[in-house]
Amino acid sequence: MKKSWLIILSLIVLFFLNLISGCQQSTEKTAESNDKAARTTAVYGNKSAPSGEDLRKLIYEQTPYQEWALWPGKGKLFKGMEPHGVYVTVYVNETALESIKNAKGMAYNSIVLKENYSADKQLASVTVMQKIKGYNLEGGDWFWVKFSPDSKVIDEGKVIMCLGCHTGAKTNDYIYTGKVTAKGTPAHSTSGDDKH
Ligand code: HEC
Repeated sequence: MKKSWLIILSLIVLFFLNLISGCQQSTEKTAESNDKAARTTAVYGNKSAPSGEDLRKLIYEQTPYQEWALWPGKGKLFKGMEPHGVYVTVYVNETALESIKNAKGMAYNSIVLKENYSADKQLASVTVMQKIKGYNLEGGDWFWVKFSPDSKVIDEGKVIMCLGCHTGAKTNDYIYTGKVTAKGTPAHSTSGDDKH
């Protein structure tokens, strides 16, 4: 009789121990994910980083870029410079269009997209710049993505190759196609006019 009581008692103790440690684990987990969420929500919605795949869905499916405005004053298939294409067409989303008109630098959520064509006017690639708050302040907060002609992500992120060349247009918010800043100062620099 005594023995069975002991067994029952230890089972009860075990049960409670288990319950307590389980609780602890789950609170730790929640705290950790809350913390991560807090860190990233402000920056990318609820993702830990922007993704080329999300951008692909946005520009090919949700708001097809072919319906966006062209870069103001530029037609389709104008002559581009190396390395993009012999002919290029530049599309801008609404935020980018407003920013270009205001000429105070590109606002966050601007997307500038370029179709790059070969000499015989075949689409060779699609290169995109998306301005995302907090993504890469040293690089104007631009997220760079290159797509194949059939809309597959080829390159994405803080792509050194893209940044390396576009840094030449840093005072124009990394943009080459036209003037987007009044005094040649990047968008996020509000009082930095004298730095340049
Ligand atoms: C060697 C220089 C160079 C490199 C490398 C480069 N670009 Fe460009 N980019 C340009 C130039 C010059 C223009 C102006 C339009 C033109 O003539 O093609 C431009 C234009 C653009 C535009 C239109 C908006 C703007 O800035 O004028 C986008 C979008 C773009 N590039 C994205 C990219 C992406 C994405 C990459 C990397 C995969 C990249 N570029 C790599 C030189 C470069």
